[in-house]
Amino acid sequence: MKLFLDTANVAAIKKWVDTGLIDGVTTNPTHLAKEGTDPKKRVLEICKLLPYGEISVEVTETDPNKVYEQAKEIAALSDNILVKIPCHRDYYPIIAQLVDEDVKLNITLVFSLVQSLFMCKLGVTYISPFIGRWDDIDVEGKDVLIELRDVIDDYTYETQVLAASIRGVRHLHEAILSGVDAATVPLDVLQKASQHILTDQGIGKFNADWAKLGVKNFP
Ligand code: G3P
Repeated sequence: MKLFLDTANVAAIKKWVDTGLIDGVTTNPTHLAKEGTDPKKRVLEICKLLPYGEISVEVTETDPNKVYEQAKEIAALSDNILVKIPCHRDYYPIIAQLVDEDVKLNITLVFSLVQSLFMCKLGVTYISPFIGRWDDIDVEGKDVLIELRDVIDDYTYETQVLAASIRGVRHLHEAILSGVDAATVPLDVLQKASQHILTDQGIGKFNADWAKLGVKNFP
């Protein structure tokens, strides 16, 4: 399963890249807007940090023809870019065309099994169902992920499921259990997920017991 960072913060990405856990980064207009006035520079920096990773960059145009042109321009920025396009009916034709032209797409704001099936039929690389926003409207996000996994596997589509809008460690746990291909995780959630009180207590006890022995060199 791939782990992506859901952020456009270069310093934080650098820090997590060092762990060896990170397979890519997903940005969106909200993330990039938080990081200052030169989003193109930021995107290029992120692409360089993970040359073999997958970096998702979202379109900001709304007219379908402009979205198409912008998607091509974004894709041309770096070999490791996937273009994020919202799962809206108006964009189906350009999504089909971009797939035909070998542009790798991550379809974002996916909220139903039917939308997912449509995108699989168009042959996109990833669909990004938003777990947290399902929870916001009292839909059990993990159940939808499990349904998606089953349908995609039954029909043998190659589109990968990327769990997004992960708001806590529980969401990440549920995404793992549902068998998604990837999850994109905000920094605070990844930080929490990488800590465990029992691990910390266990290290403390081992260190204390070892110190009692008074051995200086081992082995
Ligand atoms: O990748 C998109 C995702 O980060 C959105 O998350 O918490 O704004 O629903 P959220």
